[in-house]
Amino acid sequence: MILKYLGHAGFALKADNHHVLIDPFLSGNPLAQDKAEDFAPSYIILTHAHGDHYGDTEAIAKRSNAKVISNFEIVSYLEKLGVEGHPMNTGGSFDFPFGKVKFTPAWHSNSFPDGSYGGMPMGVVIEAEGKRLYHAGDTALFGDMALIGEMGLELALLPIGDNFTMGPQDALAAVKLLKPKLVVPIHYNTFDVIKQDPAEFKSQVESQTGSRCVVLAPGQQLDL
Ligand code: NI
Ligand code: MN
Repeated sequence: MILKYLGHAGFALKADNHHVLIDPFLSGNPLAQDKAEDFAPSYIILTHAHGDHYGDTEAIAKRSNAKVISNFEIVSYLEKLGVEGHPMNTGGSFDFPFGKVKFTPAWHSNSFPDGSYGGMPMGVVIEAEGKRLYHAGDTALFGDMALIGEMGLELALLPIGDNFTMGPQDALAAVKLLKPKLVVPIHYNTFDVIKQDPAEFKSQVESQTGSRCVVLAPGQQLDL
């Protein structure tokens, strides 16, 4: 499984020879090294509909015929725009050709850039090629992360930016609940209000937990 960091909360996943994008915010993302046109995924997973996650979803999906996997409200909105989707909701899981997707709770809000209601925001657990990864989406720290951790996680992608989501201190507490083998900090340094030092977060994680932490530069990929 290959996971490429697109900057902010976006990832390009290659699993079982399928290409999947998660929260593809590329146009207008000051961190992005890739362009929306560089991708032709068969699926796009959205944690929620805020602009810094929804990003280029409509354009990419229309060009590549990608199916959008998200909650019922987000998929219904996209279907009106002519984009195909697979509606799910918090707590549900489904087997896709690339792997199994399960949506988890996330403590946040959720609306589209045009103000439309987006249903509940979510995190997502993806199980592919025998490995399980958790993308927390935008969320506050919550105790039930321990239940997600019980699934056994290879990797946790956790926001550390603060202001809109968990900051580094709460993300460190999240690592202690999730107990993943590997942690990658996300959702920081995109805007001034979410400036953080990922190297400091890495040293806290590795001195206080049993998890390893890898800081990915935008455009960098991880081989799992
Ligand atoms: Ni958000
Ligand atoms: Mn966000």
